[in-house]
Amino acid sequence: MDLLQRSRRLRGTETLRRMVRETRVSAASLIYPAFVCEGTGVKEEVPSMPRQFRWSLDTLPHKLEELSNAGVNAIMLFGIPAEKDEVGSGAYAEDGIVQRALEVCKREAPQIYRITDVCLCEYTSHGHCGMLAGDTVDNDPSVDLLALTAVSHAAAGADMVAPSDMMDGRVLGIRNALDFAGFAHTPIMSYSVKYASAFYGPFREAADSAPAFGDRRSYQMDVHNRREGVKKALQDVEQGADIVMVKPAMSFLDLVREVYDAVNVPVAAYSVSGEYAMVKAAAAAGWIDERRIVGEMAASAFRAGASIYLTYYAELIAKLIEEGEIG
Ligand code: PBG
Repeated sequence: MDLLQRSRRLRGTETLRRMVRETRVSAASLIYPAFVCEGTGVKEEVPSMPRQFRWSLDTLPHKLEELSNAGVNAIMLFGIPAEKDEVGSGAYAEDGIVQRALEVCKREAPQIYRITDVCLCEYTSHGHCGMLAGDTVDNDPSVDLLALTAVSHAAAGADMVAPSDMMDGRVLGIRNALDFAGFAHTPIMSYSVKYASAFYGPFREAADSAPAFGDRRSYQMDVHNRREGVKKALQDVEQGADIVMVKPAMSFLDLVREVYDAVNVPVAAYSVSGEYAMVKAAAAAGWIDERRIVGEMAASAFRAGASIYLTYYAELIAKLIEEGEIG
């Protein structure tokens, strides 16, 4: 055949394939989400997330050490309080679980970058992400509580805060509150494009945060919408977001690319609990090659435009990069 272009020429050897790779993957881009809980000596496996644990403050250092050894240097903390109430007081309590976990992290593993999830759903008795007025989540007063939460995290040692509640105006509320409290240099990574997704199921088991009634569709995004996601990301940047996130990752990579094209801040993609659970289950059944699937998922998130990837598989991905499987 008389072909001038033969794509296979550049696919012949591993050296060449790696030379012409368009997407580079680095462990520096990974964030590991971790669950912290009350009690002592707790290392409790989440049933729907094999090998993922809830850590109490005294066992958390083991996890920090594992992460550090694997070359993962950023953590996102989720708190599971002992008690919940109508207004999620535990989220902004000075001695709240996340606030104390931050101190442990700062003391035991100061090299790890500390990010906190800012939301009320783990702390409210009704499991919604804000406070209620009757049966609806009351937007504006909720923003005040989220701002309070963000400031208390920053005061306890958070390097960055990440609001995941999906209330309108919360990025602006949090930015103003942080600036006023003297944390003008604390960045905000906003969960800007967060869908009302069934992929969060295992997380809600892990964090005990399933809503007691109704669902989150009145504040999280409809999965059919694309332009709204771009609008949300742009709005959050206007309100002061330093990084915008798309969540979940795998089924929403179109949004990662669209948001990447629309904004001029870094884009994060969060591969959520349901993605992890599906891969783990299929791998346990022997139906898929876990390492290769995880590598593909990571590479495709970066290919789509993410420069940050949040994943429960952070350690494995760091290993895959080190071994040259991806990267
Ligand atoms: C809190 C929050 C959730 C997740 C991150 N932050 C749950 C939810 O919105 O219901 C999901 C993370 C995951 O599934 O891994 N609002």
